[in-house]
Amino acid sequence: MSSHPWLQPIVFADGRTLPTRILPGPMEGVTEGSFLSAMSRRGFVNAWFTPFLRISTGVPRRSRLQHWLQPFLHTGMPVIAQIMGIDSAKLATTAAILHSLGATCVDLNCACPSPTVIGNGGGGKRLCEPDWITRTLDAMREACGNHAISVKIRVGFDSPAELPAIAEAVRAARPDLVFCHFRTVRELYRPISDGLQRLAKARDLLPDCILFGSGDLFTADDAEAMRQQCAVDGVIPARGLLQNPALLRDIHDHCHNRPPTPLSDAERIDFLRDIAAASGQRPGANHGFVLRVAAGLYGRDSALFRALATCRNLRMANECLNRADAATAPRIGKDQP
Ligand SMILES: Cc1cc2nc3c(=O)[nH]c(=O)nc-3n(C[C@H](O)[C@H](O)[C@H](O)COP(=O)(O)O)c2cc1C
Repeated sequence: MSSHPWLQPIVFADGRTLPTRILPGPMEGVTEGSFLSAMSRRGFVNAWFTPFLRISTGVPRRSRLQHWLQPFLHTGMPVIAQIMGIDSAKLATTAAILHSLGATCVDLNCACPSPTVIGNGGGGKRLCEPDWITRTLDAMREACGNHAISVKIRVGFDSPAELPAIAEAVRAARPDLVFCHFRTVRELYRPISDGLQRLAKARDLLPDCILFGSGDLFTADDAEAMRQQCAVDGVIPARGLLQNPALLRDIHDHCHNRPPTPLSDAERIDFLRDIAAASGQRPGANHGFVLRVAAGLYGRDSALFRALATCRNLRMANECLNRADAATAPRIGKDQP
C-alpha cells in the first residue's frame, strides 16, 4: 500500500467515503451521459463530480433530483453533487435532499464564469459577496447535519487580490472540502502564467481545509508540479480527461511510482465507439459530442476527426467509426503532418 497522501481515502463524519484525492473535475456538457458510462466501464474514475444543477425558482422536487443524480449513482461510485444558485435556504434544502438520495458530498458552485450564469448573479459572481458564501455554507451545514459539504471557488472575480477575503469567508464555514481553480472568473479559461503561485497562496490562506487544486492539469507531471508547488491535498483535472481519458489512472500510477500507460490506438478508437454507441441511446442525440471527444483524443487536424466532421448525423458517425476497425484505427487516428 503506497503512503502517498493523494491515495488515501477521505472518510467523512457520516462514514461516506471518497476513495482517493484524485477526482474528475466537473464539466457541464461533458461529465454526463455517454462519457459517464465509457469512463466508468473502464475504471478510469473512482468517483464522480457532477456538473452544476441550477437552483433558481424553487427547490426541485425529490423525484427530479433523483432523476438528475441517478446516472451518477448508477455508476456505483461515490458522487459529489454540485449545486448553484443565490438563495441560501433553497440551496441548503436541496443539499439535504441530495444527501438523502445518496450523494457523498454536496458542493456549492462559486466558480462558473458563464456570462448567463454570472448575469443572473450565480456561479462565480458569488465570489463578489464573500459573506454570502459563509452564510450559505452555514445553512447547508445546518440542513445536512454530519453529511459532507464543499465549495468550488476561483481565486477571485476580477482579480486574485480578492482571494484573502474569499478564503476567510470559506474558512469561517469550515466546509469538508474546498476546490480551487487558479483563474479568476474574468479570465475564463485563458492562459495565465502564475496559476500555481496563486494556488500556493490559496493553500496558505486555507491551512486547515482539505484543498483540491484545479487548472491546466493535462498530465501526471502537471499534477506533480501542483503538488510540489502548492501542497494541495488533491487534484480535479477536467479538460485533460478529454485528451486522455486515462489521465486519473496516470496520476494514480505516478503516486505509486509507476510510469503512465498511454492508451493504445485500439483503446482510443474503442473509447470513441463507446461514446458514439451510448450517445445513440438518447432520443434526439446528435453526433456533436462524438466530435468533441474525437477532437480531444485525436486533435482537430487528425484524419479521423476530419472524417467524422463530414458526417451529418450520429448514424453516419457510428458507421465511420465502425469502418475504422482495429487494423485501420491506428492509421486513421494518426495526426496528419
Ligand atoms: C466544458 C466545461 C464545463 C465545466 N463545467 C463545470 C461545472 O459544471 N462546474 C464546475 O465547478 N466547474 C466546471 N468547469 C470547470 C472545471 O471543472 C475546471 O475547474 C476547469 O476547467 C479548470 O481545470 P482544467 O484546466 O483541468 O480543465 C467546466 C469546465 C469546462 C471546460
